[in-house]
Amino acid sequence: MSLSIDLLARIAIELQSGITHEDRFQRLIGTLRTMLACDASALLRYEQHQFRPLAIDGLSTDVLGRRFALSAHPRLEAIARAGDVVRFPADSSLPDPYDGLIPGQEALKVHACVGLPLFASQTLIGALTLDGMNPTQFDSFSDDELRLIAALAAGALNNALLIEQLEGYNGLPAPRQVSGDASESEMIGLSAGMIQLKKEIDIVAPSDLNVLISGETGTGKELVARAIHRASGRADKPLVYLNCAALPESVAESELFGHVKGAFTGAISNRSGKFEMADQGTLFLDEIGELSLPLQAKLLRVLQYGDLQRVGDDRSLRVDVRILAATNRELKQEVLDGNFRADLFHRLSVFPLSVPPLRERGDDIALLAGFFCEQSRIRLGLSGVAISQPALTLLRQYHWPGNIRELEHAIYRAIVLARAARPGDDVLLEPGNFALRPQAAIQPAQPLSVSKPASPGVTLREATDDFQRQTLRAALKRSGGNWTSAARELGVNVANLHRLAKRLGIK
Ligand SMILES: Nc1ncnc2c1ncn2[C@@H]1O[C@H](COP(=O)(O)OP(=O)(O)OP(=O)(O)O)[C@@H](O)[C@H]1O
Ligand SMILES: [Mg+2]
Repeated sequence: MSLSIDLLARIAIELQSGITHEDRFQRLIGTLRTMLACDASALLRYEQHQFRPLAIDGLSTDVLGRRFALSAHPRLEAIARAGDVVRFPADSSLPDPYDGLIPGQEALKVHACVGLPLFASQTLIGALTLDGMNPTQFDSFSDDELRLIAALAAGALNNALLIEQLEGYNGLPAPRQVSGDASESEMIGLSAGMIQLKKEIDIVAPSDLNVLISGETGTGKELVARAIHRASGRADKPLVYLNCAALPESVAESELFGHVKGAFTGAISNRSGKFEMADQGTLFLDEIGELSLPLQAKLLRVLQYGDLQRVGDDRSLRVDVRILAATNRELKQEVLDGNFRADLFHRLSVFPLSVPPLRERGDDIALLAGFFCEQSRIRLGLSGVAISQPALTLLRQYHWPGNIRELEHAIYRAIVLARAARPGDDVLLEPGNFALRPQAAIQPAQPLSVSKPASPGVTLREATDDFQRQTLRAALKRSGGNWTSAARELGVNVANLHRLAKRLGIK
């Protein structure tokens, strides 16, 4: 069988239809898969020495989150260098990046593989890969036919990239090119919540506004801060990090604003604080909710007047610093409770960003799982790490109280466990390799003392209050004093929990 004009025309037409690029690309590879009768196909974007899947067909969802570094994938490197159609012999010794990633065939190796590099005026912009289980699957197609497909796909991909450049960033200056290793801090995720968040980052980054980033633990707040800095006009100036929670009161002021020699015992020389280090750049104040009230007042002063004094110095210094702050507390509630200054809150949260919890991100769980599998694969020097479909289902159903950090650790642990159980260079993660924490709502960490009947003379109201008090205290203890997660465990709104605590005299 060879490709008819009709079929090629169909590809060309399909590349014009579709509302979004993703849609169009998805159709393209779907069509290729049926036309060429392959078992899997993927459209990859080439950028900064790695391939990033834009659309996949016949492959496990987690592939969309994997980033294929050229240096770690000789087969993709061969495609990138070839300049033309590459047909890998069925017995090629180069590992196929999709080995084990075709659902239902996890144990099988890919046999037939064709790679089509995609060029735009001689620059490599991407690749199409076609894989099959049957070694002779692509023999009936001529190189010329495959070149035609590649040319159509390259044109469509290049158009999409140009349109994105034109549309992007709402007329604001385009963000600077990512410097350094892109995969280090890339934000994986295609869920509605993540797309919205990325859009907001693009809008706020070049604006120089202060940003308050809130979200549960492990959701990626630090990654968001780095993305904002990188896409801002301050990208080539320092991004200085300060964790407010790890700041003992005694050194906090000097950490922030610096000190002069002799300002206090131990101040043996002049020292600049984080604010000065971040001059012209960005200061990332992590866990801002932990900052003491006196320091909040000092911080506010710098934000209001743009000048500061080193400890022990009465001269003031002018600084130009953009503040990004992060918290996993409900800062608004902290303001109502009198733990956080309202005026500082308003200064910091000119542009609030909220990072959604992992459990609300749907397929992102699979994408991130793939991303971490590929990272761990390289770290552990394995030839392949795949996740079985039942394991992916398990991951999708779990509630992820520790969010992405917990997922990252869970994947790594599962790989180590799977290898211990079945040594080898190819790992397939099964549900049994994951030991996920049971849902708090199903299995409370401590049995409730409901069985103890109230003593005589105690009203129902008093008994109920007492019970609620115990329950709340226990939950707070388990969450390490984190109200948001205690509220989640108890299944109540955090604001209501604060009100209840006040009424019960816990606060
Ligand atoms: N979208 C993402 N894609 C890839 N990796 C991510 C993503 N979000 C978070 N991570 C990774 O998850 C880990 C936790 O992220 P991060 O430290 O930014 O979370 P956080 O919100 O600051 O957590 P905490 O409140 O506990 O400080 C990091 O290793 C980070 O690289
Ligand atoms: Mg953090």
